[in-house]
Amino acid sequence: MRELAGKTAFVTGGASGIGLALGRAFAEAGMNVMLADIEADALAAGVASLRGFGPDVRGVACDVADAGSVERAAEASYQAFGYVHVVCNNAGVAAAGGIDDISLDNWRWVLDVNLMGVLHGIKTFLPHIRAHGEGGHIVNTASMAGLVSGLGFSPYAASKFAVVNMSEALAVRLAPLGIGVSVLCPGFVRTRISDSGRNRPQRYGPAPVPDPASPGGALAAQIAELIRSGLDPADVAARVLAAIREDELYVFTHPQMRAELEARFAAILAAMDKAAAR
Ligand SMILES: NC(=O)c1ccc[n+]([C@@H]2O[C@H](COP(=O)([O-])OP(=O)(O)OC[C@H]3O[C@@H](n4cnc5c(N)ncnc54)[C@H](O)[C@@H]3O)[C@@H](O)[C@H]2O)c1
Repeated sequence: MRELAGKTAFVTGGASGIGLALGRAFAEAGMNVMLADIEADALAAGVASLRGFGPDVRGVACDVADAGSVERAAEASYQAFGYVHVVCNNAGVAAAGGIDDISLDNWRWVLDVNLMGVLHGIKTFLPHIRAHGEGGHIVNTASMAGLVSGLGFSPYAASKFAVVNMSEALAVRLAPLGIGVSVLCPGFVRTRISDSGRNRPQRYGPAPVPDPASPGGALAAQIAELIRSGLDPADVAARVLAAIREDELYVFTHPQMRAELEARFAAILAAMDKAAAR
């Protein structure tokens, strides 16, 4: 989608980190912006912080794990702006723990937000974008953790692998309709993702505090440090806007992680070579 000015963007997880940076970049590009988030105070502060950057920035309460909540947020967006053109399924959470100590509740929470949340966004907005016919673009936030297995056995990585697959398949399906799809795969970005438990609904039980001495707890502490020194979310948002304009599927922000990708693909191709030789 080359022309963004005058169009409307809907961003989940818009109250913080990458989502808020996307909201600002869209506003600065002349778009109307609807930030959708589960955290009410942060959402109000996020909307206020973007006043004056673009034509109109608003916020709507939304739990992406709940299909009805996403539909209500979409309705509020249509009421406010008419058509929605760019949808960023960006809300995401992470939970610490490995194969020995991560609970089923943690798996459910992370998959409900990171995987079902993306699905709910697609199911809700796609019929609308198709029907208005003004073109559109769907951006799904995955991660480098959706392409390489460095994070180990985790619902976070499993959810992000799923989001990469969903995006690839959607791109093929929507290309003939002139609707673009991007999958955002960043490495470490300076956001509040390590503090995801702040938004954990009670239905998933209490947020477990990982034992720093356990392998899962040690990995969580190491990751939190990498996030603290990670990329500026504004740089990620700038890449996403370029990808929307150029209609690019894969959006990478950490080219230094290329070797990990190559190692995974090399192992897969070596196994294919073995199969061919048998
Ligand atoms: N920070 C990183 O290093 C990194 C790297 C790769 C991918 N990502 C992905 O980027 C996306 C954005 O995360 P971030 O890093 O900006 O973290 P963040 O915690 O700063 O922002 C995430 C936002 O999502 C919201 N949210 C959480 N649960 C929600 C729900 N059920 N419904 C609606 N909103 C909800 C939070 O309130 C928050 O505003 C996530 O999908 C994350 O997995 C982050």
